[in-house]
Amino acid sequence: MKPVNVGICGLGTVGSGTFNVLNRNNATIDRRTGREVRITHVGARRDHPDCDLSGVRVSRDIFDVVRDPDVHIVVELIGGTDTALELVLAAIAEGKHVVTANKALIAQHGNEIFKAAEDKGVTVAFEASVAGGIPIIKALREGLVANEIDWLAGIINGTGNFILTEMQQKGRLFDDVLKEAQELGYAEADPTFDVEGIDAAHKLTILASIAYGVPLQFESVYTEGISLVTPEDVRYAEELGYRIKHLGIARRGTEGVEMRVHPTLVPESRLLANVNGVLNAVLVHGDAVGSTLYYGPGAGAEATASSVIADIVDVAREVDSRHAVPHLGNHTWAEGLDVVPM
Ligand code: HSE
Repeated sequence: MKPVNVGICGLGTVGSGTFNVLNRNNATIDRRTGREVRITHVGARRDHPDCDLSGVRVSRDIFDVVRDPDVHIVVELIGGTDTALELVLAAIAEGKHVVTANKALIAQHGNEIFKAAEDKGVTVAFEASVAGGIPIIKALREGLVANEIDWLAGIINGTGNFILTEMQQKGRLFDDVLKEAQELGYAEADPTFDVEGIDAAHKLTILASIAYGVPLQFESVYTEGISLVTPEDVRYAEELGYRIKHLGIARRGTEGVEMRVHPTLVPESRLLANVNGVLNAVLVHGDAVGSTLYYGPGAGAEATASSVIADIVDVAREVDSRHAVPHLGNHTWAEGLDVVPM
């Protein structure tokens, strides 16, 4: 089969991780894909000494990647929602498949993007947009395909969980840990997305849409972050046998699908209470399988690259053969919220 050419737009934390892992594990990835997958074009606004770009076409204008007739898959890793939306729609219009890690983009503009992709007959894949390296979207779409999903609940922001864990285990101050999370490349460009629950709400929007076959509806998520959690709250919770965890919860109720993100008291004996640091975990309860747990790194360059590359491989296997975008089902969104017993 002919090689599949990949164009990467953006060489930040996830972009450089993707570039380096794809090159490092090239032989294995090609073997598993059943054809050669190669990065032929990179769009990046500045130099990246940690990536060896020799032999790769490099453009300062990321739209050059989209216009490159030799590129089959455009990988959008620039983040944000303005230029990223323009870029993704332009790639689709050019008939290119798209892989993205951009949760804000999918949560807020996914309906429009999927419609454009379906009309054009191309795939848009976004495994890395939720829970970093955990293949949770694949689990929902494939592993749990037989189930009605009763509810799902998860720790889906690594930065927030890192902050809460360090406060709980070491008594560290909120701002001090947030600064470290930024230095480690976990936090969003605007860290208020992490600490005010917006990033988790983006991810929950995506998970719920897949779990329940409903359109993406970010505005329907009840959103509360961790910025008001104090060291005293963490200590008192501990004394009472609980851990404060920031959870994203979606469930099927009689009125429709509810979505919420907020700090939650989780009994210390529960699995979710013991998910620490930048790790994420999502519990999914299906009517046939019961409870299942997906656990792993929720952020970081190579962990997230692992999911980006999984999408690239999926799409590469199908280039020139089929396309896949989510299809909607019969559920609707709930108008209000009931209290979810944890
Ligand atoms: N800022 C995000 C987090 C990055 O901390 O989870 C991964 O989506």
